[in-house]
Amino acid sequence: MERSYAVRPRPTDGLIPLDTLDQLPARLAWFAAMRDTTPVLRDEASGTWHVFRYDDVERVLTDHATFSSGSGFGDPTAPVASEREGIGASMVATDPPYHRQLRGLVSRAFTPKTVGQLRPRIEGLARGLLDAIQPRGEMELIHDFASPLPIAVIAALLGVPLERRADFKRWSDALVSGQAGNGGDVRHGPEWATQEMTTYFRAVLADRRRQPTQDLIGDLLTAEIDGRRLTEAELIGFCQLLLVAGNETTMNLIANAIICFDEHPEAVARLRREPELMPSAIEEVLRYLPSVWLPLPRRVTTEVELGGRRVPRGAAVFPWLVSANRDERQFPDPDRFDIARTPNRHRTFGHGIHTCLGAPLARLEAAIALPMLLERLPDLRVVRDAPIPVGGGATVFGPRRLPVTFTPSSPTVPDLTGAAEVPMAGRLPHATQ
Ligand code: HEM
Repeated sequence: MERSYAVRPRPTDGLIPLDTLDQLPARLAWFAAMRDTTPVLRDEASGTWHVFRYDDVERVLTDHATFSSGSGFGDPTAPVASEREGIGASMVATDPPYHRQLRGLVSRAFTPKTVGQLRPRIEGLARGLLDAIQPRGEMELIHDFASPLPIAVIAALLGVPLERRADFKRWSDALVSGQAGNGGDVRHGPEWATQEMTTYFRAVLADRRRQPTQDLIGDLLTAEIDGRRLTEAELIGFCQLLLVAGNETTMNLIANAIICFDEHPEAVARLRREPELMPSAIEEVLRYLPSVWLPLPRRVTTEVELGGRRVPRGAAVFPWLVSANRDERQFPDPDRFDIARTPNRHRTFGHGIHTCLGAPLARLEAAIALPMLLERLPDLRVVRDAPIPVGGGATVFGPRRLPVTFTPSSPTVPDLTGAAEVPMAGRLPHATQ
């Protein structure tokens, strides 16, 4: 069936990051047009390749031998991961067998069962934040709630104290926006953030060597690959990846959920009647307004046909998760926000061997935060008197600021656990016992 387009697809228009949320419908229309007319696009300006259909995105993510993550951020001249620094030295930028070895060291810390043990702490923290917010009648959701929660959780997991939380946020922001898509190169991004993080984690590691701890960093210090301990660069890469990967992404999941709920009051009414739908509502938020639009670009190891085009060896390929999630070939009525959608095989957590390691943790944080927000701030509304700025570069998507209002009230359930006051660093379920 011929589709008529409100926008004519001009090739590179859709690759530029958005500035405000109101630009989103036009961008989604552009993706739909590209799926129909140009499912695989070569961006002439950067020489990069862009993939829009669900099946093609899935293929890029699944066939890791042809579509390699191993050259880091799509840069063919980069050294191999074990000789790189920062996130470029971490598992997300590697191929098997090295990838399997690195991932294997921490995968047990991220199973649904293990992260489930964090529930009381995450609940305590969310409650503590909301106790302060509830009487105010308004907040900036990112600053006051959606950002502090994941930062505290990841700090707890790593076992690092929260006193540097402002730096954690600054570093995550800088690194996430530095990893631009569209052929962007992290070397032109904010290297200072990597440098500062490296200095910070080097000191943390030195501390832990003197005084061993029972947390994720403690585990990594004694972990071995092929009988050798991890190098300093590998250890720092791990810490940086976990700190950055878990922050902005989860913050945006919470904020994007509030945007979706605000736009679909009928969905919220249904969630109040059927609270058991919350897990499936979270999946629908992930599909409909994904907090990650692009994973790491892949590098083609051998000439390949994709979407009817021949993609040359060495090309950088960008699989657009956000477009795959709206592909009508996979999702009936894809532009409908349906909190009971089944099946819902969205690709916001990626797919294949690099599938998001932290997905169970992100889901848990959302499953705690969102019902609490709906219950304690029942008439929460997004303030839409000015365009909502969105950002994070092309990789991560979510509002930079999200002012909301609600009827002020007193917290009815005092937090007697004191969990909110307890610094979240310390012993937690960890990887290799
Ligand atoms: C809504 C929240 C999140 C989203 C949408 C998300 C999305 C993604 C995506 C798409 C990938 C695949 C990257 C690729 O294929 O190149 C990924 C990988 C990864 N994520 Fe997440 N993520 C989220 C939260 C988290 C959290 C909370 C953590 C942990 C603290 C985390 C840790 C990781 C790690 C370690 C990888 C690399 C896995 C590998 O290379 O094997 N993520 N994530």
